[in-house]
Amino acid sequence: MTRKRIVSGMRPTGRIHLGHLHGALFNWKRLQDEYECFYFIADWHALTSEYAQPHIIGETVYDIVIDWISIGLDPEISTFFIQSQLKEHAELHLIFSMITPLPWLERNPTYKEQLRELTQKNLYTYGFLGYPILQAADILMYKANGVPVGEDQAPHVELTREIARRFNHLYGEVFPIPDVLLTPTSKLLGIDRRKMSKSYGNAIYLTDSAEEIVKKVGEMITDPQRARRKDPGDPDICNVFSYHEIYTDPETVQRINGECRSAKIGCVDCKKMMISSLKRGLEPLRAKRRELVADMEKVQEIVAEGNNRARAICRETMGEVREAVGLRS
Ligand code: TRP
Ligand code: SF4
Repeated sequence: MTRKRIVSGMRPTGRIHLGHLHGALFNWKRLQDEYECFYFIADWHALTSEYAQPHIIGETVYDIVIDWISIGLDPEISTFFIQSQLKEHAELHLIFSMITPLPWLERNPTYKEQLRELTQKNLYTYGFLGYPILQAADILMYKANGVPVGEDQAPHVELTREIARRFNHLYGEVFPIPDVLLTPTSKLLGIDRRKMSKSYGNAIYLTDSAEEIVKKVGEMITDPQRARRKDPGDPDICNVFSYHEIYTDPETVQRINGECRSAKIGCVDCKKMMISSLKRGLEPLRAKRRELVADMEKVQEIVAEGNNRARAICRETMGEVREAVGLRS
């Protein structure tokens, strides 16, 4: 039986942090067991917001691929590719842009929210409005059955479904209608207790040095009610404790839970333990990372091979699309 296919992408606007790891990436890794997976670097999508400092994109593309492999995404099982290397995505985007009514784009909640929040950038561009059309091209090109994304991206998959239906209605059945596979959100918050994000400056990165980790964990906000060492704490609302739950062995987690509530353990010691668990947990990924950084040729080969696999599918789909629309190949 052939496996169902999923497609998902990541914008190369910075290095990978623990929020990505415990949100999207471990989920992608699990999905490898069940689906045929296409994971790609959405560098054109990154350009929609980073067009004024595009060097960030070039600098992080390979960093991200290295992180993917380090955390256990397997290029033998899944296909990795780079969006801008597959020009067919641009062609499909163009064709979809002809059939997508403007109001579909203008009422997109993710679009409206980003215009409101990212005020330091001028996002009133044609490309940024059309962001979901490009995303629809990424997804439908591979005739994906599912798209694993976070909640903020669900409207884009919704739009993809509408575009697919409209295309099929106008030109004949070419595309399956893909499902949203909602990614469970990461329990790990940033060091200031807000959602972990590069733009908040509160993230812990896979590539952070030991000193950086010590410094960041030192700054982490714990139970805000626990003002003094002798006050009891509440692990349920403590971000440090969430890290313990992931990185520390269950028995110790139990003990910390009790000792925090009875003020037997202080936050400084608790953080020290967390740092050592975190370091131990990340070490295998970091070792794998070092190995790959020392062998960039191999990483480039993996990407080239993935691009080729993707390209074969792009050619097939675009052949069907041109024929359905009535354009000659
Ligand atoms: N917009 C997605 C994000 O910012 C990235 C993305 C681009 C994507 N194309 C995609 C995700 C196709 C899933 C499928 O996270
Ligand atoms: Fe959080 Fe640990 Fe301090 Fe309790 S002792 S509040 S779990 S850091």
